[in-house]
Parts: sequence; C-alpha cells; structure tokens
Amino acid sequence: MSPPVDHAVCYLRRHQALYGDQLSLDQPITPDKPLRAHENVDEQAASLAAFEEEIRECRKCTLEAARTKFVFGVGSPEADMVFVGEAPGYEEDRQGEPFVGKAGKLLDRILAAIQLSRREVYICNILKCRPPNNRDPLAAEVSQCLPYLKEQLRIIHPKLVVALGRVAAKTLLGVEESLKNMRQQVYNYEGVELRVTYHTAALLRNPALKAPAWEDFQAIRDRYRELTGQPPIESQGKSQSAGKSTTS
Ligand code: URA
Repeated sequence: MSPPVDHAVCYLRRHQALYGDQLSLDQPITPDKPLRAHENVDEQAASLAAFEEEIRECRKCTLEAARTKFVFGVGSPEADMVFVGEAPGYEEDRQGEPFVGKAGKLLDRILAAIQLSRREVYICNILKCRPPNNRDPLAAEVSQCLPYLKEQLRIIHPKLVVALGRVAAKTLLGVEESLKNMRQQVYNYEGVELRVTYHTAALLRNPALKAPAWEDFQAIRDRYRELTGQPPIESQGKSQSAGKSTTS
C-alpha cells in the first residue's frame, strides 16, 4: 500500500474505533488482513502512543464520570503475546496501569515463572475504565470500548492473545461456554491464535484453580516460544511450578 493510502486507512480505522461505523461507507472498514504488522517498531510505538492520546479523554459511556485514570494498556508495542483482562479495579484506576493490584502481582509472578515480564508482553483489558465497585461490565460498555482493544491489537499485531477469565473470553469469542471448557481449546481471533485461562483474581479467590491455571500457562509458554522461534524449555515439573511461587 502506498503511504498516503496507508495513512487514509489508518485514519478511517481510528475514526471507526472512536465513532463506530457512522461514515457513509458501502462496506465496513475491514482490511483484507485485519491485524496488520507495522513496518518498524518505532512506527508501532508511535501509533500506539498516538492512539492512546486520541482516546484517553473518552466520554463514550458513563464510566468516565467516576474514573480517576483511563487505563489504556502496558507493555511492548511490538509484543508477540497480549494478555486481555476484564476491566481496571481500584488500584488500576488510581495508577492508570492494568493489573497492578493483587491480581496483577500474581500475574507478574506467573509471567516470571514462564520466563517473561510485563515489559516483554502487552497487558490490557476489555474495558479501559473501572466499573463501579468492580461490577461486571455491561453489554453497552463492552460494545463502546471493544473497538479500542481491536485497534490496539491491530497496531501491536501479536502472535498470541490470551484471554484472562470469562468476561474477556466471552467478549472476544462471542460464546457462552464455561471457562473450564474454553481453557482447553485453541481459538482464532481475527486471524490471531487465542487461548483462554483463568483470571488471576479467580486464582486468588479459589486456590483449587491454581493447578489447572499452571497447566494453561505452561502450554501458553510453550506455544509462545514455538510461535516466536525460541527453543522449548525443559519441563519444570509440579514442584517448581508457578503454583508455588505465584499463588502463595
Ligand atoms: N482485573 C482485570 O481484569 N484487569 C485489571 O487491570 C485488574 C484486575
């Protein structure tokens, strides 16, 4: 694509993320390849930063009234793996960064156990603003906010998306399966492999989920390494599992 056309497409996508399909177009603005790689990392970082700037004052739904900070996302703009949670909680709303409360600290420990850090991956949520008292996102909030996540994924162009918990999985996949069933499947989200596992907050609430979650994260680690051309890691066995370091 030539640069002017490229910029026009970019502009239209942004417009769509912000205002929906309100342009008089014969067809929705869906590129041939929905998630397109950028030519270089600087461009990706600049695009992501520009997009954040564009949407950070969002007033599309009522959640903006009570928010302290808009929680865009954190991590590498060129990440090969993106984790998608549900919505900011108290700490995230205060600090403007996803997964920085108790559930976030647990996610950090799990990432460390699979030899990753939050700087190497990208972490964001379905909703960018905190729902009151951490209630479940409303359908209207999800449909207003989802275009933002889609645009983030288009810019980052990861190889693997991991949905953390039922809300993220159900939103991205449009299915009402139990998380127990979904965690064993490999899905495709707009051309990108998607896997599902428990939300770290669920692991804090229910320690019985730690063992299956660790299985999931090992499988995620192995697939991530495979997709990124890294050698496999020797099986660490249960005694060294993240279950120990991540859930104490
Ligand atoms: N739970 C989420 O789903 N996202 C966060 O950012 C924090 C907690």
